[in-house]
Amino acid sequence: MTLIKQPTPENVLLAARNLKGGALIGLPTETVYGLAADAENESAVRRIYEVKGRPFDHPLIVHIGSIEFLEKWVRDIPEYALTLAKSFWPGPMTLILKRSEIARNFVTGGQDSVAVRIPQNEVALTVLKNFHQFGGNGLAAPSANRFGAVSPTDALSVEEELGDRLNKELDFIINGGQCEVGVESTIIDCYSTSNLKILRSGFVTQDDIQSRTGYQVIQNIGEEQIKFPGGLESHYAPNAKVIVEGTPRSGDGFIALSSIDTPEGCVRLSSPMNLSEFARDLYSALRRGDKQDLKRIYVFIPDEDGIALAIRERMTKAAR
Ligand code: TXA
Ligand code: MG
Repeated sequence: MTLIKQPTPENVLLAARNLKGGALIGLPTETVYGLAADAENESAVRRIYEVKGRPFDHPLIVHIGSIEFLEKWVRDIPEYALTLAKSFWPGPMTLILKRSEIARNFVTGGQDSVAVRIPQNEVALTVLKNFHQFGGNGLAAPSANRFGAVSPTDALSVEEELGDRLNKELDFIINGGQCEVGVESTIIDCYSTSNLKILRSGFVTQDDIQSRTGYQVIQNIGEEQIKFPGGLESHYAPNAKVIVEGTPRSGDGFIALSSIDTPEGCVRLSSPMNLSEFARDLYSALRRGDKQDLKRIYVFIPDEDGIALAIRERMTKAAR
């Protein structure tokens, strides 16, 4: 029996109610699907870690439905962080800020900071608004994949990743279709340095931030990302070995812009017309490669900035 439910008003309300009662819900966002739980409910949040097989000290992102809830989770918000929030929320950007007392260790991995974002997805926002009406302050939601694996960008992939580990009585997955962006949110550290720093690249880029707010932001330099699973050796990885350099071999899966021909003997997995489509289809294409039991998938990443940077970051990690 499937755990996927259509996003009818009844099911969206049911999701919010079940979340308040300790359920885990597979939730569509504009980036990737999340596995959501009430961020104040310790046993529900612990179940997220168990279901994903994620180490307990890796912090989660708290999702809120509107900016008024930001002050519940954080304190001493710098002016620039508020400007960023107002400029890019709802949207694919996460801010790391000093935590308040409701952001407990089981959400922050014991750190004194907390990650927060408002997603830009109708279904997610409606679930969040209902959840707030039931008295909830926020939903902790990591990507809905097993630890280290590829993030799901459609409901069926969530079920394939985690379905057998969910509680069939309480938990379910809301079908919000294909995610628009396709890679996880841009994470900006507004806590540990006085300079804005991008810890994880995403759809909101250095240039977007500069042009919309005038702020200079530095791109992560990798080393200091200890409490940051995306910074671990292998992550975002399918079963197939991901290859990002050298030459593709016959029998390899092949992902590249449509303007690039498929090398002799390779199995074409995706032919996006532009970089946004590249990001949107990337994780599905990797899953298609696994379903075809390919041993290697060659990803030809355009040599550009913007979202290409986010793609490169993910695929370099997957290739390890
Ligand atoms: O787009 C997204 O951000 C998706 C959707 C579901 O919202 N969520 C997501 O969550 O990618 P997750 O758990 O897969 O990745 C969250 C990242 C982790 O690398 C985590 O270490 C980092 O955010 N993070 C969370 N809290 C942090 C903190 N206080 N300091 C530094 N990094 C933090
Ligand atoms: Mg993840």
